[in-house]
Amino acid sequence: MADKSSNQMWGGRFAAGPDAIMEAINASIGFDKRMAAQDIAGSRAHAAMLARTGIVSDSDAEAMREGLLTVLSEIEGGTFEFSAALEDIHMNVEARLKEIIGEPAGRLHTGRSRNDQVATDFKLWVRDQLDATEGALLALLRALLAQAEAGADWVMPGFTHLQTAQPVTWGHHMMAYVEMLGRDLGRVRDARTRMNECPLGAAALAGTSFPIDRHMTAEALGFDRPSANSLDAVSDRDFALEFLGAASICAMHLSRLAEELVIWSSAQFRFVTLSDRFSTGSSIMPQKKNPDAAELIRAKIGRIFGANVALMMVMKGLPLAYSKDMQEDKEQVFDAADNLLLALVAMEGMVRDMSANRDALEAAAGSGFSTATDLADWLVRVLDMPFREAHHVTGALVAMAEKKGCDLPDLSLEEMQSVHDAIRADVFDVLGVHNSVASRTSYGGTAPSEVRAQVKRWQEVLG
Ligand code: ARG
Repeated sequence: MADKSSNQMWGGRFAAGPDAIMEAINASIGFDKRMAAQDIAGSRAHAAMLARTGIVSDSDAEAMREGLLTVLSEIEGGTFEFSAALEDIHMNVEARLKEIIGEPAGRLHTGRSRNDQVATDFKLWVRDQLDATEGALLALLRALLAQAEAGADWVMPGFTHLQTAQPVTWGHHMMAYVEMLGRDLGRVRDARTRMNECPLGAAALAGTSFPIDRHMTAEALGFDRPSANSLDAVSDRDFALEFLGAASICAMHLSRLAEELVIWSSAQFRFVTLSDRFSTGSSIMPQKKNPDAAELIRAKIGRIFGANVALMMVMKGLPLAYSKDMQEDKEQVFDAADNLLLALVAMEGMVRDMSANRDALEAAAGSGFSTATDLADWLVRVLDMPFREAHHVTGALVAMAEKKGCDLPDLSLEEMQSVHDAIRADVFDVLGVHNSVASRTSYGGTAPSEVRAQVKRWQEVLG
């Protein structure tokens, strides 16, 4: 018999229990208790399968399944005592089950290992999180669509290099983020489809000699099928990495939108007003209204992408199959998942509540010679000038306006003709920002008609 202080789950060949430092580095219960519900769901499915295949008796399986529900209610009710000596959630649950139902609890681990158990639990957890992320993404997409629909024909400056480039519409700018986050939605859905294979029953690494039914447990847990290679099943953390990859790209998108909101809500831009509900004040400067939520969302990419890199580094040199290194997967994923969800929900609130300052947008849209390209295009279209020459003539007109301290539409026809004598009065039609955006009707362009078509398409996609 093993010494009493050795582990009750695997202490058979041990004469002594672990050093306190061994326990401290080894135990994962401090964080993997977040997978309690998934662990119990996996064990209940496994118990039912063991009975159906005749590996355990119906009455033992029934006792296990009932006892596991009791354990779950203790955990949910906060009365469960987690023990670091029992290492992780799997052994904590099983040990408590033994206290509740006695001998049959010892039969639960037949035909499985903690290696397939943890892979299954973690997959179930990540899958739940993908679903939550999908829901939050959909809500944010709807908030952006509402902004785009309301301001489909509001003009604003479009930028490259953060220098005024050409006028665009507010709706067009909002719809750019709809496209970006729409791809995030696709990545989340793809990851969910690809990960949905059940590792349970891969056992330690080689499968088992018990006549288990892996299809039955896979189905009971909502997986599409069992994973096809037992070595791969217990070594694979692609599902966590795909989640972190999708989360990183999504967080990068959120960070870009957050950055724009920070710039746009400044006194120098005044493009948007953020609601009081999503702003903070300053303890010393009474006039301040700070976009803290946007700033924090902008920063979240750091920890989320950090988690992605960290788990890549954990996995990169591991020989098949399971190695304890893989226990380092969970904290990274939990933290990234929590923060991505928080960032998505906060961004949705900000976007839903914010108001675009239509007048400030329009005033800014016309400044910085934003219709210079329209002027060059007019010279090409109407005077049949080669584009390179038109570019040159327009440049001279911009220089003239700059010298006079006015915008392009403020130049007189005579002044324009002093640069090129064929210019006619109808050139002024294309210098206004509304005409400029209305003319950009190419597919995906900024014209309000195009923006409305894209809003409609997305409304149908989102249902
Ligand atoms: N707590 C472990 C983890 O998170 C469970 C698997 C342990 N397996 C083992 N062979 N020691 O990875």
